[in-house]
Amino acid sequence: MALVPLKRRRRAPSPPAGPLGAGRFPAVVLCLVEKRMGASRRAFLTQLARAKGFRVDGAYSAAVTHVVSEQNSGDEVARWLEQQREECGSGGDPALLDISWFTESMGAGRPVEIESRHRLRVTTLAPLGQQMAPYACQRRTPLLHSNQPLTEALETLAEEASFSGSEGRSLAFTRAASVLKALPGRLSALEELGPLPGIGEHSRRVIQDVLEDGISVEVERVKLSERYRTMKLFTKIFGVGVRTASRWYQEELRTLVDLQERNTKLTRQQQAGLRHYEDLNTPVERGEAEFIGQMVQEAVQRFLPGASVTLAGGFRRGKPHGHDIDLLLTHPEAGREVGLLSRVVSWLDSQGLILYQHSQENSFTLHEGPEAPGGRDLLDRFERCFSIFRLEVREGPGAARGWKAVRVDLVVAPVSQFPFALLGWTGSRHFERELRRFASHERKMVLNSHTLYDTRRNLFLPAASEEEIFQHLGLECVPPAQRNA
Ligand code: UTP
Ligand code: MG
Repeated sequence: MALVPLKRRRRAPSPPAGPLGAGRFPAVVLCLVEKRMGASRRAFLTQLARAKGFRVDGAYSAAVTHVVSEQNSGDEVARWLEQQREECGSGGDPALLDISWFTESMGAGRPVEIESRHRLRVTTLAPLGQQMAPYACQRRTPLLHSNQPLTEALETLAEEASFSGSEGRSLAFTRAASVLKALPGRLSALEELGPLPGIGEHSRRVIQDVLEDGISVEVERVKLSERYRTMKLFTKIFGVGVRTASRWYQEELRTLVDLQERNTKLTRQQQAGLRHYEDLNTPVERGEAEFIGQMVQEAVQRFLPGASVTLAGGFRRGKPHGHDIDLLLTHPEAGREVGLLSRVVSWLDSQGLILYQHSQENSFTLHEGPEAPGGRDLLDRFERCFSIFRLEVREGPGAARGWKAVRVDLVVAPVSQFPFALLGWTGSRHFERELRRFASHERKMVLNSHTLYDTRRNLFLPAASEEEIFQHLGLECVPPAQRNA
């Protein structure tokens, strides 16, 4: 029942802002949404309600308990509310109600109890919209989240796409998974996502399938496919990338035994990878990572007192286990770190602690200037040792023989580049990629693991900490535990 015929709706002055006394029902403060209701009808309804003893405020404030709207969807009213909250700088959590609640209350001469039919259905979870900034580096992504089955499905498709060389498609699935990881709760219907950035049509279909059926047929098919399984098997060999694995697949190689029987040509690194395949694909525990970090720290002190060893990678983000151990070495006095790595590695080797190692020299020079984003800037040029450590163990895999092989990366950063190296090596990979994309697209800056370069001002921006890098970028500092994008 419309209380004012449509034809009588003419422009009328908005009801005065602010409350007109507490009214007969102090627990109820109404605010009427003008959109679609129109100004004159809103003024009329306001007068009517006030005449019946209701408090009706002309403008939204945190005091409002009941927002009443006519002919708007729940999502529209939720967005309106969001705007009002921003404008008045205060919160409040009013009920979002359809005009039917208002009409019935006027009829009853008192606020009737709110039933679910009175409530507007909000499909876009307002908090989601608020938290979902477009770049992963603007969001907080904890290690544990509530949407594991969904992100696993999307990440399988991302992996499959990268196995096929479709980096763009892979990134699209990775982005969608990353958004879901940052949701504050479990997604139960696709509609709850609303128009979130970074989730394309294909990903939405996969999400819907998993939500409705518990699995995605497409994902299950991928997981069972011979190509995916073989690519996964081969790329898990230390030193084997997608291109090599793909070539082997085309050559009809399917198993690790095939590689040996067909005398496949392997690099020294791949031979070590194959030799220690099982160990290197057994998760490294945090305790093991800390133990090896300590071992390296002691070796470092032996040759360069004052130098530091920092555990980066997934362990710094709070992961309880990982596929390798990423250690950053530096010294507070610039230049003192030169020559340290080879001495440390030789010494560890002489102690029988290293099963494999190859090193790369530092090839970074400031004079070269930064490289174009999206290109080689993902790789860094630090002096670095890719190694496999022999770790003594008493339990778990390897206990029978008393040791297990563990992948360790040792990276040396001069102190002026250390914060950039720490940021770059803490990950996650997607977080880093997004940071660099943000720097480039939004700030016209080039970020890599060595420096931050401002292309507008043509200068390098020094930083003494990760926090300062975030500051240069105009980003809120995201702590490592929230970088699990
Ligand atoms: P990892 O591949 O070790 O990943 O790279 P992770 O997050 O520690 O996870 P797991 O548990 O080992 O699988 C750690 C970070 O180091 C950077 C990557 O960007 C990633 O964010 N990284 C890795 C480099 O900058 N350069 C490299 O050559 C390798
Ligand atoms: Mg790692």
